[in-house]
Amino acid sequence: MSQTVKGVIARSKQQPVEVTDIVIPDPGPGEAVVKIQACGVCHTDLHYREGGINDEFPFLLGHEAAGVVESVGEGVTDVAPGDYVVLNWRAVCGQCRACKKGRPWYCFDTHNATQPMTLTDGTPLSPALGIGAFCEKTLVAAGQCTRVDERAEPAVAGLLGCGVMAGIGSAINTGDVQRGDSVAVIGLGGVGMAALMGAQLAGATTLIGVDIDDRKLARAKSFGATHTVDSSVADPVEAIRELTDGNGADVVIDAVGRPETFLQAFKARDLAGTAVLVGVPTPEMTVELPLLDVFGHGGATKSSWYGDCLPERDFPMLIDLHLQGRLDLGAFVTERITLDQVEDAFATMNGGDVLRSVVTF
Ligand code: APR
Ligand code: ZN
Ligand code: ZN
Repeated sequence: MSQTVKGVIARSKQQPVEVTDIVIPDPGPGEAVVKIQACGVCHTDLHYREGGINDEFPFLLGHEAAGVVESVGEGVTDVAPGDYVVLNWRAVCGQCRACKKGRPWYCFDTHNATQPMTLTDGTPLSPALGIGAFCEKTLVAAGQCTRVDERAEPAVAGLLGCGVMAGIGSAINTGDVQRGDSVAVIGLGGVGMAALMGAQLAGATTLIGVDIDDRKLARAKSFGATHTVDSSVADPVEAIRELTDGNGADVVIDAVGRPETFLQAFKARDLAGTAVLVGVPTPEMTVELPLLDVFGHGGATKSSWYGDCLPERDFPMLIDLHLQGRLDLGAFVTERITLDQVEDAFATMNGGDVLRSVVTF
């Protein structure tokens, strides 16, 4: 028996989102229906609404979510009804070449639920990042559900589903930050602040936050920054070098994803250091680099997909650190809102004061 619940959709390009009735089918083989308890508002949801990702309207938005499994389909053994889970958009296949090479974070055959959720007239919905969790319930592949300690508040736990995990993972997984390292993070939105926090968690002792917005710089200290650089007035490459005895930082993370910030990250790293691109560029962006610089810089230039995370490994670990008081994930939750306030949250998102608005149910 399918069921009808309330959810937020983007019906057509660049139009305000709306709350409407969504039909959720019973879970098929390998699928689960999850009762959503909280879902964060992310730039990617707005990006879907703007038509910047694809044209498969209408979208069921929302993808940074935690909730409780309500029912599971045939063959599902890893999660059961009643389990408290965080959702992820990359349920790895375990079978492709990347998975078999032991690098499942590069899996290129990740999967989502195969049955569509629909409007009441039968129109199929495209769930944002294969999740669609601005909705009282959603249908996902069971592999998109990761069990975590149920004492973690849903508004906090759900954030691991996207930007916060991307940022923390860019430092602890991709950048492989070591105790005593110097780390610079360029761009201090939710992703960059999380990268700072991840670098601090890994034991970095020099933590440099770079942004063009002084409100972000003021806040960076509480996310672990030992130094800040206003790159609207100072050259960040020179500033990072000065703060690291002229060497450059061991790890520089570009959490903006623009040509100029990527080049700053590339040039501000130590000769043996690592530049990590976690901000997501757009197709028309290009960079030009003297080949001799690429040769002469040694080290590594890496990109970080979703923090190169493994949900089964990283979500429970980060939640445990949070519950032990060693990782302040709650610092990302600026406000709790209701489903009908998602459109308002899009408007305040770029205002500089909000890290995450979270819909709670
Ligand atoms: N130099 C330094 N900081 C910059 C620059 C720049 N040239 N341009 C923008 N910024 C800062 C902004 O002031 C802001 O603080 O980068 C930050 C970006 O923050 P958000 O817009 O909140 O983005 P966030 O959610 O953190 O995501 C960052 O990761 O997931 C991707 O698509 C996402 O590319 C985006 C990036
Ligand atoms: Zn795979
Ligand atoms: Zn997101």
